[in-house]
Amino acid sequence: MKSSELRQSFLSYFESKQHQIVESSSLIPGNDPTLLFTNAGMVQFKDVFLGEDQRPYTRATTSQRCVRAGGKHNDLENVGYTARHHTFFEMLGNFSFGDYFKKEAITYAWEFLTDVLKLPKEKLLVTVYADDDEAFDFWHEMIGVPKEKIIRIGDNKGGRYQSDNFWAMGDTGPCGPCSEVFYDHGEHIWGGPPGSPEEDGDRFIEIWNVVFMQFNRSVDGTMAPLPKPSVDTGMGLERIAAILQNVHSNYEIDLFQNLIAASAKAVGTDDLASQSLKVIADHIRSCSFMIVDGVIPSNEGRGYVLRRIIRRAVRHGNKLGQKGVFFHKLVEALDIEMGDAYPELRKLKDRVTSILLKEEEQFAKTLDQGMKILEEAISQLGDKKIIPGETVFKLYDTFGFPADLTNDVARENNLEIDEVGFDKAMEEQRNRARSASNFSMDMSGGITIDSVTEFTGYDNLNAQCEVESILVDGVAVDSIEAGQFAAVVLKSTPFYGESGGQVGDKGWLRGTGAFKVSNTTKQAKAHLHQGELKEGRLSVGGLVTGEVDRSLRMATTLNHSATHLMHEALRRILGDHVTQKGSLVDPERLRFDFSHFEGVTPAEIEQIEDMVNEQIRLNRPVETDLMDVESAKAKGAMALFGEKYDSEVRVLTMGADYSIELCGGTHVKRTGDIGLFKIVAESGIAAGVRRIEALTGKAAIDSVRHIESLLGGVAGLVKGNKENAFDKVIALNDHARSLQKELDFLKGKMAALAGADLASQAVDIEGGKLLVAQVDVADPKELRDLLDELKSKLESAVVLLASVHDGKVSLIAGVTKELTKKVKAGDLIKMVAPLVEGKGGGRPDMAQAGGNNPDGLPEALALVPDWVAERV
Ligand code: ALA
Repeated sequence: MKSSELRQSFLSYFESKQHQIVESSSLIPGNDPTLLFTNAGMVQFKDVFLGEDQRPYTRATTSQRCVRAGGKHNDLENVGYTARHHTFFEMLGNFSFGDYFKKEAITYAWEFLTDVLKLPKEKLLVTVYADDDEAFDFWHEMIGVPKEKIIRIGDNKGGRYQSDNFWAMGDTGPCGPCSEVFYDHGEHIWGGPPGSPEEDGDRFIEIWNVVFMQFNRSVDGTMAPLPKPSVDTGMGLERIAAILQNVHSNYEIDLFQNLIAASAKAVGTDDLASQSLKVIADHIRSCSFMIVDGVIPSNEGRGYVLRRIIRRAVRHGNKLGQKGVFFHKLVEALDIEMGDAYPELRKLKDRVTSILLKEEEQFAKTLDQGMKILEEAISQLGDKKIIPGETVFKLYDTFGFPADLTNDVARENNLEIDEVGFDKAMEEQRNRARSASNFSMDMSGGITIDSVTEFTGYDNLNAQCEVESILVDGVAVDSIEAGQFAAVVLKSTPFYGESGGQVGDKGWLRGTGAFKVSNTTKQAKAHLHQGELKEGRLSVGGLVTGEVDRSLRMATTLNHSATHLMHEALRRILGDHVTQKGSLVDPERLRFDFSHFEGVTPAEIEQIEDMVNEQIRLNRPVETDLMDVESAKAKGAMALFGEKYDSEVRVLTMGADYSIELCGGTHVKRTGDIGLFKIVAESGIAAGVRRIEALTGKAAIDSVRHIESLLGGVAGLVKGNKENAFDKVIALNDHARSLQKELDFLKGKMAALAGADLASQAVDIEGGKLLVAQVDVADPKELRDLLDELKSKLESAVVLLASVHDGKVSLIAGVTKELTKKVKAGDLIKMVAPLVEGKGGGRPDMAQAGGNNPDGLPEALALVPDWVAERV
């Protein structure tokens, strides 16, 4: 079976099981900034599993393009060296969002593998999570897998739920126990079954992972049950294709054979067995699809991963003797293989080709020279097995060889690279750059500045300042014109530069021009005023008046002072173990992260609010003193997280020694300036770390008012007032619940009546009854329930129900136990389904099918009585 047919067969099978075929999502995860690339089929459904997103379907199936290069799952280095690692692969999957669960998921997986793909049952074995007796029983009792071929795998990776059979999307998010199907490639290949010491061998290969999504793991490790148990499965297309095409390596399947042939042609080699061709064939897939999804080669993040992969491919072509450009030519061959399934590739083919060509040209220029240097260095190693860090750095710095590329060449020659030496050379380069001028780019593209700006803005928000230097796109300039964006460094400034958790100031620099400061940052001891010159001209050496936006600064200052009061309150109320783990103070709110091992209770929150507000009402002065660090420590000052202290430090004392901390931030004059303090959120952000968010001043009052008006709104809706609204809502809730109960009861009654009515239409046959009927039930589960009810009502019967919805036919057949000896539901379905252009099957007692042609239904149903009569 060709890979493309396999892909289609999978999707069609699940479509016949009422799954919606959903398109592969982009390789760039839309809903998860923590993920570099989409690396599993479930990524696009993450929020559906969590109950935060609704779809018009509860069953879905996809063929999802995935990349595992960079980030948590990184197979880049293994590509070309093993039979089954790829940077890019396709994952076939079926998903249930609170619809079916273990029983059906297992049934479908087995049926697709053994009935549709016709894999020999004796070559399959399965694993289940150690205490998942339910899954074990389904495999054994329902499917008939012998007990010795069902392997229980426990927490084998060091920790609760750390198991090969417990699948989690990441450190947080949806997760659950899973059951995997393995294929035995035969005794001639080394390896043992899962769970055995030889499990890493290539004999038993995992082909399908069926995950029973049940929990949402949060940052602090708690496992909250999902709104509804769900199913997420994944089967690597390339692996299953290898089995069906009777080959052992993924690279021998049709799709890869064609890409390898095209690569050989582009590179100009006859050696079709070369590892380098496999690398190139693999890389053209990941590179092309990354570009289709909007990534372009660059020096950071996803763009850098792409650049590294392209350069690796080009280097392998070069190794085979191709000195010119070739890689981009493979897009054409890739389109032939995959363009039908992925129209977005076909559409963007030209763009992909030209981006690859450009990157190839850029790299080709230096590749040859670089390789010569590397080969020379290798030849001089003698008995040594390590390429010096200096050489690795020179290749990177001058020839654009990412270190992993040099590593790749090293590995081919059984050598290693000196990573420590490489890091050292990088660091030295940074230092050189730093001392070369006031401004320099560091390796990551950041700017290093050696100026020292004096900060005068503790008390004055308005001051005369001299422009020391101006930076545009990292380059020092003498002056800027209106419309230019720049970073301006002043000799002294009233603008606070972002540090110690407090955000930078905004405002204006006015002189010969008007420069709008949208943020102030700090680089070492320099304050950088970032923004745009709105009018006039600004020159180095010129004088400006710095005007800090007063209202933003004041709001920020209230939040900063309140942070200190709260920090002390936390230590007094929760205990001395509370230490600061991070904070953010801006005009809107304050956010404070601290060590504490459980959630802060509502009662504790109240105590904290009370203590802080009491300090506010006492309206004591806030004092700052400059002293050396030793004296500050002697005074009992708490040092703040992330701050670097000079020999002389600022010590901030609030409320007559209530709180003493080292702090360079801006603060109120008296605690009473804060006005009001209100906590609005408490949460866990990592194991043992809590986060509190709070408001002060006008924002706190606005928040209270907002909640009041919401309560007023609710009161209006329930026709009450603020006092009794709560009780009224409870009463409404009770009422809704009892209505729901009544509704469920009536629905059950109606179904029973409909069932009884249908049952009376059954006709006599030898040994029981036959009922053939078209019903108006769209939901597959309701249809199954109705069938079960009719079977039990008719006692000994053959039942076939059909329903038509949205131009699609659903068929379900059931045969009571005694009668299955003569009539099999699966056979009946197989007879009827083709007449409605459908496919299906099932067990002797129950079978289902879907069809696309409702017009064929009357004739199909009419055939059933004779067909059954012939058999009973
Ligand atoms: N999400 C599961 C996996 O990637 C199916 O293995």
